[in-house]
Amino acid sequence: MRITGHAEVRALLSDPSYVPPSPPPGAAYGTLGWLRSQVSRFASGPVHAERRALVEERLSRLDPAALRVAAAATTRALLAAAPEGRRNASPPSPEAPSEQAAATADQEATGDLGGRVLAHGVPARVLGAALGIRDLDALVPAVETAATDYLSGAGDPGCDAAVARLLTLTGVPEITILLQAHGATTALLRNALAGPRATGSEPGTAEGLLRDTLRHDPPVQATKRVDGTGAVVEVDLTPDLPFGHGPRRCPGSDHAMAIATGILETIMESR
Ligand code: HEM
Repeated sequence: MRITGHAEVRALLSDPSYVPPSPPPGAAYGTLGWLRSQVSRFASGPVHAERRALVEERLSRLDPAALRVAAAATTRALLAAAPEGRRNASPPSPEAPSEQAAATADQEATGDLGGRVLAHGVPARVLGAALGIRDLDALVPAVETAATDYLSGAGDPGCDAAVARLLTLTGVPEITILLQAHGATTALLRNALAGPRATGSEPGTAEGLLRDTLRHDPPVQATKRVDGTGAVVEVDLTPDLPFGHGPRRCPGSDHAMAIATGILETIMESR
């Protein structure tokens, strides 16, 4: 079943009898399956409320305005590190061929500067630093790998290794924030950079472009719930609910917009 329509979707997402599909039990400690059984995102009832409160407490310590400044500075440094003539090329990355392939795909989809920034995990880097994580060079590739299958749960041994690495760097609430944030914020930027408004003669402000993108080409287009009988319900978020709704609404929407704005305005200035 698929639920569409603004009022219907809001009603369903406010109804506590519809819960996210639970991860299968019994996954070994430190694997992606285990992580999914520990986060707020897939929990329900009082366990969800308790875990969400821990996430919100961490997020309350992060100032969106400071995240925007940090995202802009990180993006500027990344762009400055590329000599002018090499701005069309992805950086050499012998240890991470998949990262290089992603960089090339992003560059084709979004233009050189945007692709270069997207391929370097700026959202994870900025959030990781703000959360006090020291080894950002270890953090960013681990977040990128683990985030790939975080929502679907279809992890491979590489994902499990990334989760194990993340657990050596920080705690579950922080990992929840990083994995929820990274893919969606990167996808918002990718859609904003690839859309016709980004290449028009008057692209306007970064904030305006992001708002338009959330309305017309949102990065998270649907979510899932199960009803009381266990049947899966697909919930359409395209009727202007890009951050969800109700007790599970994205708690990081201000942080997401701040990071995305800092990155996008820097790319737009450099074009
Ligand atoms: C453009 C970027 C983002 C979009 C579109 C987005 C969207 C969403 C949506 C739709 C949900 C709810 C899913 C559901 O109801 O099933 C959600 C949950 C969540 N988001 Fe975001 N998100 C973004 C970025 C972020 C960022 C930057 C953070 C943290 C800094 C974050 C943290 C979270 C967390 C922790 C949850 C789970 C909440 C819970 O379990 O109650 N998100 N997000």
